[in-house]
Amino acid sequence: MSSTIKRPLVIGHRGAAGEAPENTLASFRLALAQGADGLELDVHLSNDGEIVVCHDATLDRTTDGSGRIGELRLEEIRRCDAGAWFHESFRGERVPVLAEVLELTPPGVLLNIEVKDAEGSAGAIIDPLLERVNRQGRLRDVVFSSFDHKCMRELKRREPTARIGLLYAANLADHAGYAALLGVAVHSLHPDYRLIGRDDVAAAVAAGLCVYPYTVNRIEALRDMIACGVTGIITDFPARLAALLDG
Ligand code: G3P
Ligand code: MG
Repeated sequence: MSSTIKRPLVIGHRGAAGEAPENTLASFRLALAQGADGLELDVHLSNDGEIVVCHDATLDRTTDGSGRIGELRLEEIRRCDAGAWFHESFRGERVPVLAEVLELTPPGVLLNIEVKDAEGSAGAIIDPLLERVNRQGRLRDVVFSSFDHKCMRELKRREPTARIGLLYAANLADHAGYAALLGVAVHSLHPDYRLIGRDDVAAAVAAGLCVYPYTVNRIEALRDMIACGVTGIITDFPARLAALLDG
């Protein structure tokens, strides 16, 4: 890569979701082994108040169980297998809780925690989430993000030192200008990579924002995003991106 362009962070999407069952400890381990600088993960609140790492609101797609996470207790969720659906070699993987992912991840690795069930539970996840991250002393490694921007604003109000990011898939006229409207300090933009270009990135970076587009997997698209000068790239294939940056 050109010496004038800053090396973007390699951020493993749901771990290394292209090569391991998403949002499992196996997936996060693989991403770290592949040289990821950061991990993206999705969280929901269980019925008994645990922070559960899963993309969907239900267990149906990514485990051998079923039902809404918000209506289940952790012990019920933990009975499910979260690996075999992806490949038999991953049988035995469980749906992790956030505490396990924090323990697995060395300090200094960026943890992008995407809040999924913000609106459904009226922001009920915010306090337990902050409590968990603070209890394990990991606030400085975390960037919280969500498609629910009001949730991010509320989280920032409750914990002013938290870093928040805005997720979106919109062809905004002014990405940095939009972030400035939130009324609290925004750390990062997390746009759909197909809807952001070089000028948008330059303006955002000039405004002091980090830019982490998602979910970039094809070599050509990875090259494009690197050339745009983004701060980090969220990808299902951390090894592919790392090889491109090192090559
Ligand atoms: O955080 C980036 C990306 O994960 C957002 O979309 O649906 O993959 O969680 P999704
Ligand atoms: Mg996500």
